[in-house]
Amino acid sequence: MSNSQTLLVTGGAGFIGGNFVRLLLATEPDVRIVNLDALTYAGNLASIRDCLEQRHHTFVRGDIANAELVRHLLQGHKITGIINFAAESHVDRSITGPKVFIDTNVGGTLNLLWNARECGVKRFLQVSTDEVYGSLGDSGYFREDTPISPNSPYSASKASADHLVQAFHHTYGLDTVITRCSNNYGAWQFPEKMIPLMIRNAMADKPLPVYGDGLNVRDWLHVLDHCRAIWTAFSKGRAGQVYNVGGNSEKTNLDVVHTILRGLGKPDSLISFVKDRPGHDRRYAIDAGKIRRELGWEPQMKFESGIRDTIAWYQANRAWMDEVTSGDYQKYYDQMYGKRGQA
Ligand code: NAD
Ligand code: DAU
Repeated sequence: MSNSQTLLVTGGAGFIGGNFVRLLLATEPDVRIVNLDALTYAGNLASIRDCLEQRHHTFVRGDIANAELVRHLLQGHKITGIINFAAESHVDRSITGPKVFIDTNVGGTLNLLWNARECGVKRFLQVSTDEVYGSLGDSGYFREDTPISPNSPYSASKASADHLVQAFHHTYGLDTVITRCSNNYGAWQFPEKMIPLMIRNAMADKPLPVYGDGLNVRDWLHVLDHCRAIWTAFSKGRAGQVYNVGGNSEKTNLDVVHTILRGLGKPDSLISFVKDRPGHDRRYAIDAGKIRRELGWEPQMKFESGIRDTIAWYQANRAWMDEVTSGDYQKYYDQMYGKRGQA
């Protein structure tokens, strides 16, 4: 595809979307971005302040499920491609309140797809997750042909969206690409997710709430490697295809927590085993062979140095952390962790 294009990037004030917008503005001078984000609790203009004044970036506050707004943006900006990051993204919140996950992740995605088709958008990339595949035992990897088997309301909503994307390709011939990535870490991640939550608590000498036995495994990838994979898949991927993205960096949650404590010079006694997440997936691990072989993407960051940089970033950006946790965060934290108690 030609480099001169105007993209609708949704969810670009969130963790991965914000990193993606910043990366593209820095590396792709011919790309214009219209950034549509509802600014939920997880979206913060403080995370993209440096992008707001840039010539090739237009921020619009709004809901991806708003048909009139989406159509107006697609037509008014002559959008050539859509990259859909916008979602409710936290598994724990989907367990206590699943409806908004269906509204945004399913209804919002359907609205984008429908209007993309109506307005002649050339390519639609759906940012999906390895969680649609369900959970692995001690061995094996998720491949693109692994059956879809989501376990949480979050992953069920993402799987539904993936099916809609595939259906729009199959039924209407819309040019679509899906990426399914493993767990991301890095700068600007909202501290409801495990890594920034543990860093924040450890910095404040508060208990680190480890779910269950702490031996669940995640395959960690630096957010910038994910962003590069998305851009590679958008620019070079084949229409109708799914590409798995992962870092080949499996860790138990306890390993990660120990690394954070060591990095901050804090004692292991801060670890507190708490009641497990209901339906907690045991292990995720990605086979990213397809995107490596077909599109030449490789992760550039090693977990050991990436997590060091990430810890240092949160230490240097306490003001950002305070700003994004100044709203309902404490209420959320008390509700989510207050009732969990010690395991
Ligand atoms: P996030 O929660 O940090 O950001 C989501 C963004 O979407 C926020 O800015 C929020 O304001 C916006 N948003 C929510 N509802 C909206 C709506 N109805 N209309 C417009 N904007 C809305 O999430 P994230 O971690 O950056 O994840 C981004 C995408 O990547 C999601 O689709 C998620 O499923 C997927 N993903 C995340 C990970 C991960 O490890 N975080 C891994 C794989 C895939
Ligand atoms: O695999 C990709 C997915 O990774 C994305 O699709 C999701 O949007 C993203 O949130 C993430 O999901 P997880 O549920 O794996 O991430 P989370 O950071 O919530 O949890 C990581 C692991 O840490 C998981 O096994 C649960 C555990 N955990 C989490 C929290 C918040 C704890 O032990 N304690 C905690 O307080």
